[in-house]
Amino acid sequence: MDSRRVIVALDFPDAAAALAMAARLDPALCRVKVGKELFVAAGPAVVESLHARGFEVFLDLKFHDIPNTVAGAVRAAARLGVWMVNVHASGGSAMMRAAREAAAGFARPPLVIAVTVLTSLADADLAEIGFPGGAAENVSRLAGLARASGLDGIVCSAEEAAMVRGALGPAFVTVTPGIRLPGDAKGDQSRVVTPQDAVRQGAHYLVIGRPVTQSADPAATLHAIARSLAGERTPS
Ligand code: C5P
Repeated sequence: MDSRRVIVALDFPDAAAALAMAARLDPALCRVKVGKELFVAAGPAVVESLHARGFEVFLDLKFHDIPNTVAGAVRAAARLGVWMVNVHASGGSAMMRAAREAAAGFARPPLVIAVTVLTSLADADLAEIGFPGGAAENVSRLAGLARASGLDGIVCSAEEAAMVRGALGPAFVTVTPGIRLPGDAKGDQSRVVTPQDAVRQGAHYLVIGRPVTQSADPAATLHAIARSLAGERTPS
């Protein structure tokens, strides 16, 4: 079992703030996520600095473009040595296959996962952009397409993780945000689950931002989460 199921979201505006937080975290207990804000501000150098401090990095840039362009972006991410990178499943199967093939050319290829439906989109928003059928149906269809295109997994809610596991099997990786600790404020997340419940529902990895980074003692909070997960097994 992977002892680093927690991926701490380093949602900070610059490298100094992100690296100050990383200095308080133990790379034996977590991985870290670099998203658009930090990457646009600080570039590949912040990823290299995190690697130098022993962290594996999920580069959360959600690529969505023509296959050739996405393949180039995935190659650049693989050259940086990131552990995981993601694309939008709605970019289509040719784009996802191109992403997979680009990663496969490396000795230590990153996991390539897909975003299915942005959780900010309600059923009415999906209908408006021509995706009828509601979120659940779209997530299910796009998750199947991601797997058929050779991707390693998807980003999804804990509830969807159970469904995806049932439909696509336990090896297909599920990465789950929207995690809150018992007693935490929800912030802007609408549906939240605890780390233990997310793993019980089938999540392989948990993206956790503010519950760790805004806590009074991020190191202790991370430690407590890792300990609470030590006995948990993802269902087979
Ligand atoms: O602070 P919090 O734990 O809510 O951070 C969650 C992280 O996961 C953020 O980086 C956010 O962008 C990301 N995320 C999310 N919901 C999704 C996909 C990604 O909250 N559906």
